[in-house]
Amino acid sequence: MAHQWRGVIREYADRLPVTEATKVITLGEGGTPLVHAQKLSELTGSEVYLKVEGMNPTGSFKDRGMTMAMTAAVEAGAKAVVCASTGNTSASAAAYATAAGLKCAVLVPEGKISMGKLSQAIAHGATLLQVDGNFDNCLDIARKLGESYPVFLVNSVNPARIQGQKTGAFEVVDSLGDAPDIHVLPVGNAGNISAYWKGYKEYAAPFESANGTLPAVSTKTPIMWGFQAAGAAPFVAGHPITEPDTIATAIRIGNPASWDTAVAARDESGGLIEAVTDDEILDAHRWLSSKEGVFVEPGSAAGVAGLIKKHAAGEAPSGKTIVITVTGHGLKDPQWALRTEDGSDVQPVKVPNDVVTVAAELGLEEN
Ligand code: F0G
Repeated sequence: MAHQWRGVIREYADRLPVTEATKVITLGEGGTPLVHAQKLSELTGSEVYLKVEGMNPTGSFKDRGMTMAMTAAVEAGAKAVVCASTGNTSASAAAYATAAGLKCAVLVPEGKISMGKLSQAIAHGATLLQVDGNFDNCLDIARKLGESYPVFLVNSVNPARIQGQKTGAFEVVDSLGDAPDIHVLPVGNAGNISAYWKGYKEYAAPFESANGTLPAVSTKTPIMWGFQAAGAAPFVAGHPITEPDTIATAIRIGNPASWDTAVAARDESGGLIEAVTDDEILDAHRWLSSKEGVFVEPGSAAGVAGLIKKHAAGEAPSGKTIVITVTGHGLKDPQWALRTEDGSDVQPVKVPNDVVTVAAELGLEEN
């Protein structure tokens, strides 16, 4: 029988803080593809899968948390929501606020968010303010607005966001039949690594739901591998970075809000959080589009860059099941696809309106 995916809240209601009576704000998020990455599997000798989160309604994993945060905002009687963002959270907040009939204000670092994300927030009618500062400054202001003004904060410091985002781990286990051996993902504000770890732990043990105890779904939890951009790698430094810098603007964050839970995810799982350079990120971005057929934004490629780097260093195991979350769609920030390895821009060849010349240009000989 045909089944229409109902969004993460209804699909996983018994594992989320909602009831039958909850007015759910959804755009049908979640249910994203888990794609077998053939070339990465060949390279590493493991079975590597990509959790393609760009397939969410606003093109990033943020929608999983935003359905919960906006549902909570409506439940709390909020009239307006606010968030700080490197772009994807603002796109998601703007769309879900529209669905909820709420006003939305977003604070972004001036000049440091991609055109696609900026367009989304504007298209959905958010009030967008470009702050003369970085993401960490934006988040400070957003938190203060949430505390002292009549606006509801929908950043991942709101626990509802983490609740929604943990469903990514549930879907991986539901697809594979068990947890993977290693789960790899980019780390910025560190909400997502915290959320996946929470989801994996909840699925590996009996769960007390409102309707009774649910049995464990998986037999184990994965090792968590997080990767930060080298210029914005506070977990690697062991302290906040005041001037984070990377071309991967999505993860250009120096003072992650979910610090403690990310460290717990790393340490409890026996995992790691390491850094990859911008060049490694761009190489992985190119690998995904040219070898796997998956188009992501640069920040989303950090996990793949990390796995390739660990493999090259002889530090990635073979014979394992590895899942990498690729967090946002390539169309968010498409300019990088047009840049070649030597840094010049691709110029598509111009041809006259003539089949013989086109065939010659394509190197085709007539049958
Ligand atoms: N990948 C993408 C595409 C992101 O947009 C983000 C975060 C991350 C990875 C990192 O996830 O913060 O949970 O560790 N973007 C936030 C935003 C900060 O405002 O859109 P994280």
